[in-house]
Amino acid sequence: MVKLRVTTTFILGFLTATIFVSVLQAEANSKMQKQPFGKTEDGQQTDLYLLTNKNGVEAAITNYGGTVVTLKVPDRNGKFDDVVLGYDKLEDYEAGKAYFGAIVGRYANRIAHAKFTLDGITYTLPKNDGDNHLHGVFNKRVWNAKDVSSGAGQALELTYLSKDGEDGFPGNLSVKVVYTLTNQNELKIDYSATTDKDTVLNLTNHCYFNLAGQGNGDILQQQLMIRADRFTPVDANLIPTGELRKVKGSPFDFTTSTVIGARIDQDDEQLKLGKGYDHNWVLNNSTAGSLFVAAQAYDSHSGRQLEVSTTEPGLQFYTGNFLDGIHGKGGKVYNRRYAFCLETQHFPDSPNHPQFPSTVLRRGQHFQSTTVYKFSTK
Ligand code: GLA
Repeated sequence: MVKLRVTTTFILGFLTATIFVSVLQAEANSKMQKQPFGKTEDGQQTDLYLLTNKNGVEAAITNYGGTVVTLKVPDRNGKFDDVVLGYDKLEDYEAGKAYFGAIVGRYANRIAHAKFTLDGITYTLPKNDGDNHLHGVFNKRVWNAKDVSSGAGQALELTYLSKDGEDGFPGNLSVKVVYTLTNQNELKIDYSATTDKDTVLNLTNHCYFNLAGQGNGDILQQQLMIRADRFTPVDANLIPTGELRKVKGSPFDFTTSTVIGARIDQDDEQLKLGKGYDHNWVLNNSTAGSLFVAAQAYDSHSGRQLEVSTTEPGLQFYTGNFLDGIHGKGGKVYNRRYAFCLETQHFPDSPNHPQFPSTVLRRGQHFQSTTVYKFSTK
């Protein structure tokens, strides 16, 4: 009898403690810090949200462009460094042209001749990259922000209504992006959207990573693996020719982990056109729509590893070829190839390539896409 009572008391005590700990945990997850990030030139207030997890990982995200401003992760000795490029101040993001850390849309990447035809109607977009349309304006917009933290981790929901005709695209597009920082050291990005008219859509995040820490030299010694047997070669305007070319035997073969700089300056037509890597890889993801490990990057000095999973069919791997001495965070200067981007997305110029996976979003359809950037050390 006594034994039973002791056991019951013990179980009850244990349960209470467990509940108490999970309440504390949920509370810890829900306290997201927020501070002003300044006013835009046209007077809109912006904020900076600090997401943290139980391992001390921090992601500071502003609702200006849904931009990841800092991302601090540990190296193999537990030393934290900020591994994304960016600016200290809002005005630099407003003036900037590199898309550092931002949400990119309505159409991430290039649309040839800034034109496409949908349902028999031709739409004309602004030319902001030679003769092309590139990346859209979502990175320069102030998004509505809401703390939606849960047991899964601290989470920031950002919403934006892109009006019918904005940048030339049809349909009022309602976009939602949720950033979640999990206790598994993942920055998870969930994108969703609906439209009231048929349109095209390609959303990505444009973080520039340097696993040695932002501004700490180039990324040429860091390693990369991309799970793609093919890529989309480009023409002189960086527009896909339409061919899906095998990477085997070329500097585009990252099917096994390879040092980024090993072949970057080879005498290769495609590398010359991109001034390095600036191409879309066709992921070996046969079940588009489910999370697929697309790439893994590794810095042997710090031991930091980044794994990218996505539901998207493509990955733009860009080696910061256009970085030309940009003054970034904390007095750091970003020179050529000081970072790499792994932009999960649909293929560039898809609206003009009917054979590519479709980027059309029909009225009433629900768009959904997920990408996870997971950090670890080894
Ligand atoms: C993308 C493009 C690059 C470049 C950057 C932004 O990655 O593919 O060519 O425009 O964005 O500088």
